[in-house]
Amino acid sequence: MKRKLLSVLLATAMVATLLAGCGAKEAGASGSGKIGVAMPTKDLQRWNQDGSNMEAQLKEAGYDVDLQYASNDIPTQVSQIENMINSGCKLLVIASIDGDSLGTVLEQAKEKDIPVIAYDRLIMNSDAVTYYATFDNYMVGTKQGEYIKEQLDLDNAAGPFNIELVTGDPGDNNARFFFGGAMDVLQPYIDSGKLVVKSGQTDFETVATANWSTETAQARMDAIISANYADGTQLDAVLCSNDSTALGVTNSLEANYTGEWPIITGQDCDKASVKNMIAGKQSMSIFKDTRTLASKVVEMVDAIMKGGEAPVNDKETYDNGTGIIPSYLCEPVFADVNNYKELLIDSGYYTEADLQ
Ligand code: BGC
Repeated sequence: MKRKLLSVLLATAMVATLLAGCGAKEAGASGSGKIGVAMPTKDLQRWNQDGSNMEAQLKEAGYDVDLQYASNDIPTQVSQIENMINSGCKLLVIASIDGDSLGTVLEQAKEKDIPVIAYDRLIMNSDAVTYYATFDNYMVGTKQGEYIKEQLDLDNAAGPFNIELVTGDPGDNNARFFFGGAMDVLQPYIDSGKLVVKSGQTDFETVATANWSTETAQARMDAIISANYADGTQLDAVLCSNDSTALGVTNSLEANYTGEWPIITGQDCDKASVKNMIAGKQSMSIFKDTRTLASKVVEMVDAIMKGGEAPVNDKETYDNGTGIIPSYLCEPVFADVNNYKELLIDSGYYTEADLQ
């Protein structure tokens, strides 16, 4: 009798454990199907984080994941997407290398009714794009411009101050928003003569940096310094749209420039740039928590895969040439040497050791 009771109790406990296990799985991982995630390159830290955050969070939600990086090579990205379409992916999340180069391959996605979420960068001129998820790119630019305006106290100081401008890849729609946002703040001061761009290089195409390359930004800055600042002329600020270009500018200044260190902006809080902020070589960056973007995109994927509509908070800003793409814009956060610990270390984004 005693033994019978014991085995009943044991069986009940086993069933309860099994049920609890199943319950946990169902609550957290109710999705099914394969999601294709196409990322531009492993060369830049942020995309590695974006990719691994997306992969981990999608798997946690129950999905299979085909995650690919394309070494910043457009044909590679096109063929990766083609493979995703042909190997049964039910939805594509794409951070494009060149926003204008995916129209043809995405026609195949559209034919197969595969929804497409443009990740961080808008895919242009394709009506296959269902949603867009990003950070508020214009706000990134205005925060960089405002920072320079405040640090130089442009409304009160006599000036004039010398500034140079460095933005990103011309095929990346974001670059125009970053640069546009910053210039909406800075242009009036250039027009009034309080800010002077000694190189004369101010239009988007000239100040763009192909592939956001550190080396390209560095080489351009080398040329600007030798032509305009080699005689000891003070350079007061360099608007850099992101950290990889800021790094190139910083490297160039370290090698070629003898004046007082200028204000340098950035974006992404890449480890190298945070170290430079701590060392006083980069003034600020913009923190775009890739965990937040990934979890928002996973929410969107889950809603679409379950037959619903994805959450969006912007239906007017991003026209990809075929019409407005409903978007979710996450908020970018200002970062500098005073708040990086709270933002990056206390939140678990980096460890202290990452920044040494
Ligand atoms: C992203 C930036 C990044 C840049 C270079 C942009 O599209 O929004 O965060 O710095 O690409 O990878």
